[in-house]
Amino acid sequence: MLDPKEVAAREAVKAVKDGMTIGIGTGSTAAFAIRAIGERVKLEGLHVRAVATSSRSREMAAEWGIPLIDLCEVEALDLTIDGADQVGPNLSLIKGGGGALLREKIVAQASRELIIICDETKRQMPFGQHPLPVAVVPFGHTLTRRRLERFCQKVLLRPKAPDSPEPYLTDDGLYIYDMHMETIADPPQLEQRLKQIVGVVEVGLFNGLASRVLFGFHDGHVEELL
Ligand code: 5RP
Repeated sequence: MLDPKEVAAREAVKAVKDGMTIGIGTGSTAAFAIRAIGERVKLEGLHVRAVATSSRSREMAAEWGIPLIDLCEVEALDLTIDGADQVGPNLSLIKGGGGALLREKIVAQASRELIIICDETKRQMPFGQHPLPVAVVPFGHTLTRRRLERFCQKVLLRPKAPDSPEPYLTDDGLYIYDMHMETIADPPQLEQRLKQIVGVVEVGLFNGLASRVLFGFHDGHVEELL
């Protein structure tokens, strides 16, 4: 039996062509893609340059011998491959389960094509069932939380580790609040309204950014949402 995340990742990596500048995502599914790209670099001599969306992915890509660059060195990326926490209507996504949503969104917006790779659990309905991560500035964050609570009652500061009293800090020194919305009826409107809160840096709703979503299955087949 194959790992559905790896199945999706290997399918997506077929879209990586020689000479491309690519974005690489964060999380367990993106890790399979990094490995598959690394194998192609080593075995086929594939020539790519990559921008990583987190320090974890950057380290992994370096271990696999994938040449890394800073996003500021390029105008745009040809292709980015990343995972998602939930996939909803019109290819809206919830991302940020791994805490990298800000860099992931900057990289997604800079990419001509964004391929999302998942297993089938990521398309459970209703959209919004997965907590929505929001990256906030630590300064005055409890006041920012109160504003977030106007949208849903359960808004939790993400801890560094499950029982840690310390908050999780992103690569950019931000806190993450996880909003337990249960359902999101209008993702673009919610994204816009949350971003109006001063103190909110980015929202883990990716609307209009994904070009393709690939779901992998244990038997090796892939289903695509266009
Ligand atoms: C990280 C992300 C990940 O893509 C998302 O959390 C999915 O992770 P996984 O592939 O481990 O299920 O958005 O910030």
